This record gives sequence, C-alpha cells and structure tokens, in this order.
Amino acid sequence: MARMNNDTIRPRCDHAPAWAALREHFESTGSKLDLREAFRLDEGRFQAFSQQAPHVFADLSRNLIDTQSQGLLLELARECGVEKHRDAMFAGEAINNTEQRPVKHWLLRAPRNYNSDDPDLALVHSTLDAMLAYAEEVRGDDAITDIVNIGIGGSDLGPQMAVAALDSFAAAGKRFHFVSNIDGHELAAVLKKVRPVSTLFLVASKTFTTIETMTNARSARAWFEAEGGRDIARHFAALTTNVAAAREFGISTTFGFWDWVGGRYSIWSAIGLPVAMAIGAGRFRELLAGAHEMDRHFATTPLETNLPVRLGLLDVWYRNFHGFTSRNVAPYHSALRRLPAYLQQLEMESNGKRVDAQGRALSFATSPVLWGEPGTNGQHAYFQMLHQGTDVVPVEFIAAKKANHALPGHHELLLANALAQAQALMQGKADEGGHRNFPGNRPSSFFLLDALTPASLGALLAMHEHRVFVSGSLWGINSFDQWGVELGKVLALDVAARLASGDAAGLDGSTAGLLRHIRG
Ligand code: F6P
Repeated sequence: MARMNNDTIRPRCDHAPAWAALREHFESTGSKLDLREAFRLDEGRFQAFSQQAPHVFADLSRNLIDTQSQGLLLELARECGVEKHRDAMFAGEAINNTEQRPVKHWLLRAPRNYNSDDPDLALVHSTLDAMLAYAEEVRGDDAITDIVNIGIGGSDLGPQMAVAALDSFAAAGKRFHFVSNIDGHELAAVLKKVRPVSTLFLVASKTFTTIETMTNARSARAWFEAEGGRDIARHFAALTTNVAAAREFGISTTFGFWDWVGGRYSIWSAIGLPVAMAIGAGRFRELLAGAHEMDRHFATTPLETNLPVRLGLLDVWYRNFHGFTSRNVAPYHSALRRLPAYLQQLEMESNGKRVDAQGRALSFATSPVLWGEPGTNGQHAYFQMLHQGTDVVPVEFIAAKKANHALPGHHELLLANALAQAQALMQGKADEGGHRNFPGNRPSSFFLLDALTPASLGALLAMHEHRVFVSGSLWGINSFDQWGVELGKVLALDVAARLASGDAAGLDGSTAGLLRHIRG
C-alpha cells in the first residue's frame, strides 16, 4: 500500500563525500584515461568491465572508467542510499513524492506466485488474464485485419516499438497502425488504408483526457460512423486508468491500469494490448518474464555486479564529470528502429529535471539528450560526427548474436559493422593530414542479446528503466513525474481559441505576429 515515507529526503550526490573524491580523481587522472593504454596495461579489462545479466551481456570495457572511478562511483551510490531507495520502490512506498504515488510498474511483470503481500498483484493478474483472453479472441477473429492504436507518449511509443521489435513473432493476417500526432495527416493516412468492418480501434490513454488522443479518437469514431460502421462495442476498445471516461465516450470494452504506472512505464500494462495481439498471450507473458528477471537482478544483486546500477553510475560519471551532453543509441537490429524514441521518453521525461525531489534547484546537470537510429544506417549519416566531431558522445551498441531471418550473409556483416564501429571509435587512426585523422578514445558500450525475443526485449527495457532510476536517484530528483509537459498543454488551449477568434491581445510579439500570418 502507498504510504507516506521518510525516504523522500535522500542524500543528494553533490553533498556526498564520494562526489568530492570523484571530482578530485577526475581532475588528477580520471579525465586523462586512454582506453587503448588501459587495455594494454590490463589484460583483464574486458573481464572486469563486462558482465552477463539476465538476457543481456554488457561490455562496458570501452568506457572511460577505471577501477578507481568505478570504486568511487559505487561509494557514491552507497552514500546516496540508492539501495534503500530501490528497496522503497519495490516495497511500494510513495517514492513519486510530488504526486504521492507508489511506483510499481515492476509489479505488472511479477508472476502470479510472486512472494508479495501487495493486494494489487491479484488485480494485476486478473486484468492481465482478461486482456490476454481478449487479445487471443481478436487474433482468432479473421474478420479483423487492422488494429489501429490511438495514443501518444507512453501510450504509443512502447507498443509501437515492441510490435516492430517482435515482428518475427507476429501472426500473419493482422496489420498494426499507430496514430499519435494531433496532426490529422497521420490519422487520415491510416483511415485511407482501412475499412470499418475489419478495423479495431484501441484508444490508449492513461488519463483519457490527452487532447491529441481524444481528438484522434473522436475523428476515428466519426469516420467509422460516416463510413457505415456499426457496432462501436465491437470495433473500439479502451486502455486506460479512467474507465469511466472511456464508457462515457461510448466504449464498453475497457482494460484498466492504475495511477502507480507512469505512462512511460506502461507497456507492461493494458497499454501493451497491441503487442499481445501481435505476438499472442504466451509470448506476451515471456516479455513480462524477461523484465521480471531483470527486476530481480536489480533488486538483489550487489552493486558491483548490478548492471542497471553500473549503467546509472556511468551516466552520472559522463554527465557530471566528463560533461557529455548526449548519448547515442545504436541498435544494430532494424526491428529496434523505434527503440531510440522509446528511450528518449524514458530518460528525458524521467530525468529532465532541474530541481531535486524537494524542489530545490540543482547545481549540476541531469538527463543527457538521447538520440539514435538503427545501424548501419546511422553510419552513413551522423557517425562522421561521432568519429571526428568536436563533441564526445558515448555510443551504446545493441546487437543480437542470432538473426530472426534466414537471409545468408547479412547478419555476419551487420555484426561486423557494429564491432568495427566500436573498434574505430576507440582505436582512432593517426594521420598527419588532419582530415583523415581519427582521435579515437571515444567511449562506447556494447549490449549483446542471444536473439531479439520477447524475453530479451523485456529484460533490455527493464534494464533501461532501472538505470534511469539509478541516475535519477543519485541526482536526488523525482524521476516519476513530468510537470514539464503541462505548460505547453495549457497554452495550446489558449492559442487554439485565439487562432479561431484572432484575438492577439496580451500575446508576446512573436506569437502575435505568427498568429496574424496564419490567419492571413
Ligand atoms: O507527455 C506527457 C504524458 O503525460 C506522458 O507522460 C504520457 O505518456 C503521455 O502524455 C500520454 O498520456 P495519456 O496516456 O494519459 O494519454
């Protein structure tokens, strides 16, 4: 049960003795670490800085860390009470202190027999059973050929990413479409391709108030009726914590979830329904099981060999000591093409904060900018900047040992490219001419899955969730609210009214000028 907790006032990283020790270490030797030299001096470096976690092998040895920085970072984690904070999350305490909510997305993937006295576990499983039964029903219904998910942010990015990622596990005969933007071009393009009689619309919205989603849902319903569609009950379902609002909208098939699931952590809930419809109930349970394995790893493994902890510490090291402002996500698996966008919301909406959990201004940087594209495409676009630009951007390679296709030759070349890029970033190349000189010593991490499967995807995503938790915890911020998205939403309503009326009174000069231009 949610209860007020005493843990909201956590020791902040910049007040911890290890923070000062890290600063000193960085200024003396840490900032000068040369990876090529480090590998020459230490034959065991790969071993020391790589590990197998559930479903994910992580090679962190090409990062700008040594045993001293790693030791001090671990000390920082201890001094900041990361373990206590983590345990508070898993105990269901209200660690989302600005909204007084517990943070329990991990409970959504806990097995039925999980040793927990949390009364929500039974609710989670009865909802999951109902949702998966419905997913199977729709999978078996040949008359439904198109599933249109209408949702935005966490109600879009997770399912969209996972449906693409697990395409090789999807049944034939169903097409999935994702409409998120309020820009009518997006919905119109989908509506051109589907017919009311064979389409199921899933209106996915935690709050069921989000303007983009409600506008798209209303337009979809109007189109459905205008095109002769009958039986809204059969052709519309809602995934929401606000079941009452969905009913009022006219949707009778609803699958609920709870306010303790953040939007960007909701793929494991009813929001995952399109994924379950694509891959089936059994596979969806495998996705949850993979994530649960990572949860247990995070909850129980000592800090030294706890992968999300090591990654979160690295994030702090890079952001606050090296001053790196961004991180590149390079999935060498085209099915993971939406992963960078998914991780963008996870990292930047969670940790893009400038005050701590008590509202006090921070004197250090938080969330890096996350960006990326699948390899090898990125190599022919922005890798130039990664190799020879003026900024150092840590790169995270994600690859699978085995492909999910049978085309000969491709996968070997794909893997060779990923390895070669990581190698080139670190090795560099001396050339007196300058233009052909690669400085090298550019850091990267390499994540290797056996294959991209529901279970390994689940583990990979949970690993990222917990890593964001760790850096947010060290920074002393609340990673589970998102007040920063509110102002624009309020102003948009005001501007919409002014666009209709032409009233520019009191607006800033630029907005007023543009408004007049738009109105002609
Ligand atoms: O952009 C803010 C946000 O609240 C996200 O956190 C959320 O994932 C998204 O909007 C969608 O919200 P909802 O699911 O309530 O429509």
